[in-house]
Amino acid sequence: MKEKIDQYLQEIDCVETSSAEEIEQFRIRYLGRKGLLNDLFEEFKTVPNENKKFIGQELNRLKNAVQEKILMLQKSSLPIEQGEKKVEDLTLPAGQVPPGTLHPISIVRREILDIFSRIGFTVADGPEIEDDWHVFSGLNFPPDHPARDMQDTFFIEKDPDLVLRTHTSSVQVRVMESQRPPLRIVMPGRVYRNEAVSARAHCQFHQIEGLYIDDGVSFADMKQTLLYFAQEFFGKTRIRLRPSYFPFTEPSAEMDVFWGLNSEADHRITKGTGWLEIMGCGMVDPNVLSASNINPDKYSGFAFGMGIERIAMLRYQIDDLRMYFENDVRFLKQFNRFI
Ligand code: PHE
Repeated sequence: MKEKIDQYLQEIDCVETSSAEEIEQFRIRYLGRKGLLNDLFEEFKTVPNENKKFIGQELNRLKNAVQEKILMLQKSSLPIEQGEKKVEDLTLPAGQVPPGTLHPISIVRREILDIFSRIGFTVADGPEIEDDWHVFSGLNFPPDHPARDMQDTFFIEKDPDLVLRTHTSSVQVRVMESQRPPLRIVMPGRVYRNEAVSARAHCQFHQIEGLYIDDGVSFADMKQTLLYFAQEFFGKTRIRLRPSYFPFTEPSAEMDVFWGLNSEADHRITKGTGWLEIMGCGMVDPNVLSASNINPDKYSGFAFGMGIERIAMLRYQIDDLRMYFENDVRFLKQFNRFI
């Protein structure tokens, strides 16, 4: 038996394989149910007791040698096999890594900020988690205003009161508190409202707010600024201002742009009027100026705010708000041609 084991050990040493199948055949030949090792263990039963210890050790040595050989063959065969299938040509140019695209919200935000920067507005930023003062009280919201209600606002903490900002107007208050007029700023940011998510409403969205405060700023200045923006963004168009209400502006207005009624889609989008509402605006209420220690007898100003999603929806004809947040690459990929 010893001779047989030695012979197998020699054979194992010399075995060479060139594929996974051959390794498997080798494994079956030795370790399979009807393999050589099982035969030897059968034969082992007949070995006289005085030799059992020695032969047993030899058998184990053989078994270990087979297992080690299999591991070695597997290790060394892997790169060979892969190499055979895929011969790398190192002189080929590198594979293309597809560049990402800007999110449609980013594209529109950049464009809007760019338009305002051309007429001297600079960008200001503020926190998304805010206190009641910056989101409501400092903006002249009466204590019982419905916007403070649980339905609209995500409350984080009662004392000290912390909320997720419901509009970027909170940044107005921060800037008015820390800087003196003249102020000419645009404030982009994410805002949150406690709304059920649907195609037309979301619990988070983006706004850009603008604020201009100086000596003798008038409603006519606001109208001209907003007309300039509308024409830069939408091309040659008209605007109209409809009376509205915001606690922090007086008088207040909604601004519409003329979209046209050329196609059936235009009728649908504008509900047959040809006009589209795109933002709220108004003259900063004197109470808001006073709250931030700006003298309303000396200074006046206007503010405006718009939703970026809404404007991007109009521009790219997107009809479901949820698409912006799902980040499906099939959706995002379409915007690379707009950058
Ligand atoms: N903050 C208002 C909103 O969220 C928009 C607005 C901003 C209106 C500034 C007037 C002036 O709807």
